[in-house]
Amino acid sequence: MMKISASFLSIKENLKENVERLDKTSIDYLHLDIMDGKFVTNKTYTIAEIKYLLQNTTKPKDVHLMVNDVMKYIDDFITINPEFITFHLEAIDNQREVINYLKQYNIKVGISIKPKTNIETLLPYLPLIDLILIMSVEPGYGGQEFIMETTSKIDNLKYLRDQNNYNYIIQVDGGINNKTIKYCQNADIVVVGSYITSRADYQTQIDKLLK
Ligand code: DX5
Ligand code: ZN
Repeated sequence: MMKISASFLSIKENLKENVERLDKTSIDYLHLDIMDGKFVTNKTYTIAEIKYLLQNTTKPKDVHLMVNDVMKYIDDFITINPEFITFHLEAIDNQREVINYLKQYNIKVGISIKPKTNIETLLPYLPLIDLILIMSVEPGYGGQEFIMETTSKIDNLKYLRDQNNYNYIIQVDGGINNKTIKYCQNADIVVVGSYITSRADYQTQIDKLLK
């Protein structure tokens, strides 16, 4: 059964109250889109803002770092004890060091690639990591259109996992709605933002995704 990680990036009003509403739906994870204004032009929440926002939430947290200074943000975000921290392959050169660092804290390690980055670049890390995040839009903003060409990466990563007995989870993020989700069937977790949060009734939107 495919799991849903919900992004609240596109919620513009009453953010805390609406994140609490999202937390009460059937979603599996809360997806935290963390942007530094450098790796991507947009800038989002600080760790202090996230702690305040998530004060009353209970879902496991899935952190998506779209930042250059990966180590600094990891030190911030390990303090909320997330299930996953995912960084971008394109952001750094010391991937192995970061993987080992997160493992010391018993946090599951994810690596993400942008739509134009091919999966060959991930090959050395496949045996080492817990999650791969395939971006199906350019990172930076919610509400963008799903890039269909990225779906072959999902299928290829599933094939590679089966062939090599790797253990990573395959996650897809960006532009997912009740139509485009059909092209993500080989993913284990889909990240969904605006499709859920653009309507008042979050649970109805989630149910439409899964049927
Ligand atoms: C984009 C973010 C995504 C995205 C999800 O940089 O990583 O999590 O905002 O939102 P939708 O579903 O609106 O594309
Ligand atoms: Zn994201």
